[in-house]
This record gives sequence, C-alpha cells and structure tokens, in this order.
Amino acid sequence: MKTSILAPSILAADFTDISSALLEIENSSAAWVHLDVMDGHFVPNLTFGPKMIADMRKLSKLFFDVHLMISNPEAMLDAYIEAGADAVTFHIESCVHANRLADKIRKTGKKAGISIVPSTPVSTVAEMLDIVDLILVMSVNPGFGGQSFIPSSMKKVSALAEIRKKEGLDFMIAVDGGVNENNAREIISAGADVLVMGSAFFGSKNKKALAAKIAALPLSD
Ligand code: DX5
Ligand code: ZN
Repeated sequence: MKTSILAPSILAADFTDISSALLEIENSSAAWVHLDVMDGHFVPNLTFGPKMIADMRKLSKLFFDVHLMISNPEAMLDAYIEAGADAVTFHIESCVHANRLADKIRKTGKKAGISIVPSTPVSTVAEMLDIVDLILVMSVNPGFGGQSFIPSSMKKVSALAEIRKKEGLDFMIAVDGGVNENNAREIISAGADVLVMGSAFFGSKNKKALAAKIAALPLSD
C-alpha cells in the first residue's frame, strides 16, 4: 500500500541550528525535508540558496524536496542540482518555458515539480501533467510560514486527482501551506500524496507520533 509522505519544511526551524532540525526530522521518521528557497523578488521574503543546501546535504540522507520561490528559476537550476536536490519544484508563474525547464530537471535524473499559487487555476498546468513528477498546490500565498490554509485549495487537489485518474497519469500531488494534524486527513482524502508541514511540524511536541499519524493515512486511488 502506498502511504502519504510528510515533508517537514525547514522554514519553521531555527536557522542557526539546522543540523538539529535535520536530526529532528530524521528521528521522526519523515523521509523528506522541504526546502523553501525565496529570493525577495518572486516572493517578498528571503531564505537561503544553494550553499545552504549543499551544506545540509553533507549532514543528511533525507530526500531533499527543493521548492524554488524565485524569479527566473532556469538561471540557477544547475546550482540547485549540484547542491544535492532530489526534487526541484518551480513556479509556473515565474517561468514561461516551463516545459523546457521540467525536461531539463528530469534529464539530470531528479524529480521535476511544478507549483501553482492560490490565484492560479489548475488549468494553467494542464499541458504539463504528463511531463512532471509532482504538482505542488500552494494552499497559502507563498513567502511565509504559519499562515492559514486557504480552503479553495482543496478543490484544486480534487481536480488534479480526478484528471490523474481519468488520464492514467502518475504525478504526485503535494500541498503546501497551513497543513496540520487537523486538516491532513481531508487533504489526503482529496487526493494528495505529499503534505508539506512547517509550523505544525516544528511546533509539535511529539514529532514521531505526528509523522506516524501522517504515514498511516491511506492514499486515495
Ligand atoms: C510558504 C512555504 C511553505 C511553508 C509552509 O511560502 O512554501 O513551505 O514552509 O509553512 P506552514 O506549514 O507553517 O504553513
Ligand atoms: Zn514550500
């Protein structure tokens, strides 16, 4: 049986103690870590770049799920691949030649993801569903952790799951923003495979129990 994937987001961790944050994720049994790259241009906030990811790579074997919230993602793709990304997700809103970029990512042997912000409809990525490994549905306006889940995102997850089934495709659906223990089951039932969790994960007193709870959620077919 395929089970849900929990991807704790390092954005909610203490940036002066990333090695402890990685250990906390590993000890919880979550297999992925979500790495939010922000450039202060595509989104108002700034986080980190490839150097940080390369340094983290030396400390951890977790699956590095890199979420590029940056303008012109083509320009820096190679640096993120070299840094040790296992999946690179970029935004359709920041890339005209998204098809070419997804192809380029896949040619490196890494997983390619495309993301849509809350105001972007699913139809915008309709032509990409068979050329990416992951669709990241942003359920908050990107840039900051700790925001509330935007309910209309659920419809997008269901719509993507329906197309996936109808067309026999196999992309994963990830949901990012305002995900917590209370809404996880509903999001997974709608068709998501990957739950990105920042503040709810790092704010949890029992991360192991949280990860086990998410892993036990059965994926919808
Ligand atoms: C927001 C980021 C998210 C963020 C989620 O722009 O893309 O990955 O870390 O944080 P929470 O889970 O706190 O909403
Ligand atoms: Zn993210």
